[in-house]
Amino acid sequence: MYIDTHCHLSKEDYLDVDKVIQENREQNVSMIVVSACKKEDFKEALEYAKKYEDVYVTLGYHPEEVEDVDDEDLLYLKEHLKEKKIVGVGEIGLDYYYDKSKKKEQIELFEKQLRLAEEENLPVVIHSRDATQDTIDTLKKYKVKGVIHCFSGKKEVADIYIKMGFALGIGGIVTFKNSNLGSVIKDLPLSSFVLETDSPYLSPVPYRGKQNSSKNIPIIAEKIGELKEISTSLVEKVTTENAMKIFDFEHKK
Ligand code: NI
Repeated sequence: MYIDTHCHLSKEDYLDVDKVIQENREQNVSMIVVSACKKEDFKEALEYAKKYEDVYVTLGYHPEEVEDVDDEDLLYLKEHLKEKKIVGVGEIGLDYYYDKSKKKEQIELFEKQLRLAEEENLPVVIHSRDATQDTIDTLKKYKVKGVIHCFSGKKEVADIYIKMGFALGIGGIVTFKNSNLGSVIKDLPLSSFVLETDSPYLSPVPYRGKQNSSKNIPIIAEKIGELKEISTSLVEKVTTENAMKIFDFEHKK
């Protein structure tokens, strides 16, 4: 069984969510973690978690939401973190790609949510774009573990995160010809990977440019197997165990 540890699931993107879940199951992807990272997404994600056995949820405010999040919203987040099938805080983090002018505010929001994760004893799912050093420095201040979502950095950065106890979320980028990720992860231990699609974004080759979905997880596993010269089924087994350890699904049912 595969686990997609990071996807987005919304009627806005998928007309027929029943069908998405069915297609996932046909590909042996029978657990998915939906990342609800905007206030507007929380309710829908929680509905799916109730409706489908397969769906678990992480809640958090994405760094790009920084201007729209106030203390009341953080309270709202804190309350919902206690609900069933909420397995983590995320995706949270820092994103300086589009806007560097809000660094201070982003770090503040990030820290408030790291504190919440610490209090609730939940793993975190980290979004970091063009902000590696600040992400590492900020994470080091808190006793949290979790996943570096959509990892695509250098080997030295991977080593730092792994040493800090984080897993790397590996997705469709690993199949892209112009990406370095393959050569970076080739020599890293399988024990530090979890699989993710970040769907509807980042479809793996040969579906690049089309809408992604959790059913494509086996393509990513196959690619990792190829790179590491091991079987796809070993990648499946170990990455699923890794995800189970991090998110503790059994106790969140
Ligand atoms: Ni995402």
